[in-house]
Amino acid sequence: MCGIFAYIGPTENGQTSQGQAGQGQPPKAAAIVLKGLKKLEYRGYDSWGIAAKLKNGASRGAEAGEIVIEKHVGKISEVEKLEDKMLGESSLAIGHSRWATHGGVTNYNAHPHTSEDGRVVVVHNGIFENFLELKEDLIAKGHQFRSETDTEIFAHLIEEKMHAGLNFLAAFKASCKMLTGRYAVVAIHRDENMILAARRGSPLIVGKGQNGEYFVASDVPAFLEYTKDIMYLDDNQMVVLDREGASAASAAFFNLETDEKIEKRVISIDWKEEMAEKGAYPHFMIKEIMEQKESLARAINTDEALIQKAAQMIKSAYGTTLVGCGTAGKVAMMGEYFFAEIAKKHVNTKFGSEFKSARHFLTDRSLVIAVSQSGETADTLEALETAKARGAKIISIVNVETSTMARISDLVIPLKAGPEKAVASTKATTSQIAILILLAYAVSGDLNEGKRMLVEVDGKLNDMLNPRYEKHIEGIAEQIKNAQDIIIIGRDLNYPVALESAIKLQEVSYIHAEGFAGGELKHGPIALVSEGTPCIVIAPNDEFKAEILGNAMELKARGAKIIGVSPENAAVFDIWIRVPMNGYASPIMNLIPIQMLAYKLAVIRENNPDMPRNLAKSVTVK
Ligand code: M6R
Repeated sequence: MCGIFAYIGPTENGQTSQGQAGQGQPPKAAAIVLKGLKKLEYRGYDSWGIAAKLKNGASRGAEAGEIVIEKHVGKISEVEKLEDKMLGESSLAIGHSRWATHGGVTNYNAHPHTSEDGRVVVVHNGIFENFLELKEDLIAKGHQFRSETDTEIFAHLIEEKMHAGLNFLAAFKASCKMLTGRYAVVAIHRDENMILAARRGSPLIVGKGQNGEYFVASDVPAFLEYTKDIMYLDDNQMVVLDREGASAASAAFFNLETDEKIEKRVISIDWKEEMAEKGAYPHFMIKEIMEQKESLARAINTDEALIQKAAQMIKSAYGTTLVGCGTAGKVAMMGEYFFAEIAKKHVNTKFGSEFKSARHFLTDRSLVIAVSQSGETADTLEALETAKARGAKIISIVNVETSTMARISDLVIPLKAGPEKAVASTKATTSQIAILILLAYAVSGDLNEGKRMLVEVDGKLNDMLNPRYEKHIEGIAEQIKNAQDIIIIGRDLNYPVALESAIKLQEVSYIHAEGFAGGELKHGPIALVSEGTPCIVIAPNDEFKAEILGNAMELKARGAKIIGVSPENAAVFDIWIRVPMNGYASPIMNLIPIQMLAYKLAVIRENNPDMPRNLAKSVTVK
């Protein structure tokens, strides 16, 4: 939620990310930040802003050394060129793309924010929970605020501390210590050639470029084109990116609480830049849907020793709880069914935001398994922190292996789905399902059978991931594109599939969609159905087939248009979406056409499926 990008490079000479400085191509930090921010737009796209410290700004109407700021409402991907004032020679800049929390979507509320005198400039991801009391205090001291954000107080706090005699670095540290909540912050000062960045709960990664360049970003793909050498900031840590003379910058890491210096290891990652690009696809969402054959295969090939180790932890735990949010929360629910049906083992499920009450039952013999794509979702993280405080063991099933969740877990099972950029989760979802199926089979003592079944599933995905099938789904989307409501029903392990299908349809088509357990319809929801309401009926060939088809009949009798997702056609279906069948892995098969349907509806209704309104990819606020 919110993307941060910052760059510091040499002022002259040396090879920079924009070419040879001093040979007609002076470093233009603002342009580098603009490019980086575009790659982080999936984290927030209400508004954006960049602040650059100009070296020879005078020629462009700014004083040398002045920090110039440009900010706008709207998507940064639509920006082709920065304002003239930003194009002066600069070797230090910070930027932000926003997902609004405090204050509406306006230019004033867009980051960066400045102190009273404009010398301190900050960007921020997360929430300062105590900002109101700090703001009141600052107002009492004479500070005036230009925005409704919680962020702006941070710039004023630093300024206040500097007025009291601290230098920029000490004022930054002291201000961070006063803030509560989960956040990541970056600050610069008019009189300093340095970038200060700190994290408490929201991700920040430092990239080490060549010849004294450094990058700070909320996510690695933002600077992948420049460097694959990274250093992670952990919670309560900060980095000082300082320029050593004219030609190079250096990085020093500190513990925010103790001020102790920390030696950081540079990690070289093997991500390929194109993995995080759309390639020939019009949107990330369809690219990621189509990648599922490969991503699923990688999940199935997860190191067996790792799966067995996790299975052993589940077997010996005194109670296991699966936790996740949104789609990952629905996958966690599927897990409950997999463990019940495959391993005859009871596990609990909680959504991250509803985890609190579980703390009463957690001990040092409990196990909590987090399911997450990003590994940064604040509600899930908070659940893990609660569990850890009780001594419980933590396993995380995550896509971003270097995420906070992965780093605080006792065991990590990486999804290996590759970067997932579209807000709507697709390939990470099916990989999470596969891992939970493997775990359930491992607990039952027959991991090989689970693998065999999933390999068979993967082999059948081509029946769906092809242009002909896509066209068929597009035709169905055309038929229901003007629906007011879509109802989805499933039973047993396809009940959470119905819930997840609803999320997919809601978030990108903006059509009201709701998932129900087939048997629950008659207890209330069936009143929603009227002539022509599209109802998606998930009807695998399992022991519940007759019952779910019975529920379809009940819907049809009230005028519903029945869209059956099933290996076989049935008389009750008005439209049939054929899916290959595969026992306990049917949720994977059933979800894929619904992901496609959601995507096609979004495109037909002229919504941007990659950046749906009001949403962001990584939800780092509670
Ligand atoms: O990164 P996570 O998997 O922890 O994210 C959890 C949810 O925010 C996420 O699944 C969300 O519901 C997606 N937009 C659904 O497509």
